[in-house]
Order: sequence, then C-alpha cells, then structure tokens
Amino acid sequence: MGSGFSSWCFTLCLLLAALMCAQDSNARRVTKGEGDDRNNYDPSSEASDGHDQWINGGHHAKTSHVDHMDPSVHIFFTIDNLKIGKSLPIYFSYKNSTKSYLLSREEANSIPFSSQKLPYLLELFSFSKDSPQAKAMEYTLEHCEREPIKGETRFCATSLESMLDSARGFFGLDTNFKILTTSSLTKLTPLQNYTILEMPQEIFAPKFIACHSLPYLYAVFYCHGQESKNRLFQISLGGENGEKVEAVAVCHMDTSLWDADHVSFRVLKIKPGDSPVCHFFPLDNLVWVPFPA
Ligand SMILES: *[C@@H]1O[C@H](CO)[C@@H](O)[C@H](O)[C@H]1NC(C)=O
Ligand SMILES: *[C@@H]1O[C@H](CO)[C@@H](O)[C@H](O)[C@H]1NC(C)=O
Repeated sequence: MGSGFSSWCFTLCLLLAALMCAQDSNARRVTKGEGDDRNNYDPSSEASDGHDQWINGGHHAKTSHVDHMDPSVHIFFTIDNLKIGKSLPIYFSYKNSTKSYLLSREEANSIPFSSQKLPYLLELFSFSKDSPQAKAMEYTLEHCEREPIKGETRFCATSLESMLDSARGFFGLDTNFKILTTSSLTKLTPLQNYTILEMPQEIFAPKFIACHSLPYLYAVFYCHGQESKNRLFQISLGGENGEKVEAVAVCHMDTSLWDADHVSFRVLKIKPGDSPVCHFFPLDNLVWVPFPA
C-alpha cells in the first residue's frame, strides 16, 4: 500500500509538473480572437478537421479541405524517417497568450458536463449560442460523448484526479505508469525543419493512453487508449534556429483500415496499408505508459 501510494504520488507530481509547463507555455483558454491555431479547436475552422483526425487515432475523419495546406498537418512522418540526421518539417505550436484553468475534481463535478446541459452552461457563463465559445463547448461535449471504437478505451477528464483514476482503471491497479510529453525549453517557430539529433528511443508500451486537450472554459482532456501494436518513440529534435524539442511520437503500424482520405496519406503521399503512419504529439498532450513496462 505504502509503495503504491508513493508511486501514485510520484505520478501525480510528474503530471502536475507536466501540466504546469503546459499551462505556462501552451495551454489556452477559449476566448475571443484566439482561433488562429488548430489546438484552439475552433470547430468552424479548417484546422480542427485535421486535428480531429489524429485525435481519433486516425481512423475516421475526412479531410477534404485540409488539402490547401494548413501548416499544422505537418506532424506526420513514416517510420523509416527515424534516423539520426534526418530533417523533417514539423509543426509544434507554441502558445504564450492563452491559459486554460485546471479545476479540482470538486469544482469540476459541480459543473454539468454534457451537451444536454449546454443551454444551461451558456447561460451560466453568459455566452450567446452563436459565439465561438459556445461552438467550442458544443464541439468538446460532443467529442466527449462519442462512443469508443471497438477495442478502444476513451474518456474525457475535467480534472487531474479524474484523469488519474481513469488511467489507473485502464492500466489496472497493479501497474505503475508515467507520463511522457513533448517538451521544449525554448520558444518555437511553429513550422520549421527539425533534424533528428540522436537515435530515437523506443518506449516499450503495449498499452498506452494519449490525452489531448480540448477547447473549453477550463482544462478538459480527451484521452484514448488501445492495446495495439503501435510503437512509441522519444525523439530529440533540433530546429533550424537552434531550438530543441524532446518529442514523443507514435507510429500506427497498421493503417490498412483507415479512411483513404485521411490527411496523413495526403501529407505522406501514401495509401492505406502502404506503410506505418507516425505522428508527433503536440506540446500539451500527455501520454501515459506503464512503468516499468
Ligand atoms: C507569443 O510571443 C511572441 C513573442 O513575444 C509574439 O510575437 C507572438 O505574437 C505571441 N503569440 C501569441 C499567440 O500571442
Ligand atoms: C525545409 O527544408 C526544405 C529543403 O531544404 C525546404 O524546401 C523547405 O521550405 C523547408 N521547410 C520549412 C518549413 O522551412
């Protein structure tokens, strides 16, 4: 029990550290005029579609209009790119003006979180139903209410405590886990060529959960996990201006059932099943892996 508790504590501390970084550097609040970035999830913007794609593990979404190249599609690569010295254009958004508030579980539980309650929430927070905030909230609530695909675990977390509880449910009470994040200590030019600086390190993780932040009035994470043959990597990247990123990426080994319209195929100029599709995780995502594996 004691050691279980300390590892729990350890995980929570890591999580807090990760989130504090996320809050400083790249968390956001759903406010007016900040819809310039895909991570703001303005559902009416073109960018959100592209984002949606990989948020779903890349299985469903259509991409017709990501075509005329939203820069944020530059997160995809193929597994044979994972070599020292390889240069790739990658989009890592760096946000410095927006923050999302992290609620305690008690606070989060005191506010309804369901699309049925949206009218009530809009009134509570004084947003008109056509406002960007209302659209973002609607998008997020609907996203959180979608049924999982077969073999998938998914949940939305409105507090750290609930994220941790759900993660423990996924891994089982006997498994310890840790969190991986893409991180950078410097400001980043969002889209630039990065060079792989060291041999990418594979993280053995037969099961993992990826959590992506969604636009809402406070911090909401959409998390999904599968037991699969996907491969996780930690990759040290150097940007053109000397910027450094410690990135986390996943390679989806079997893409044969993916929608042929998936944006990754367009970016990589391949077809479903041709080759594994890999993507980097953005700066504010959390990837939970068993530890030790
Ligand atoms: C972030 O900071 C940079 C430099 O201070 C500034 O040019 C940029 O506009 C800021 N980004 C946002 C989204 O405010
Ligand atoms: C990356 O490098 C290639 C080849 O040098 C160049 O054509 C491209 O414009 C660069 N991309 C960015 C985003 O700087």
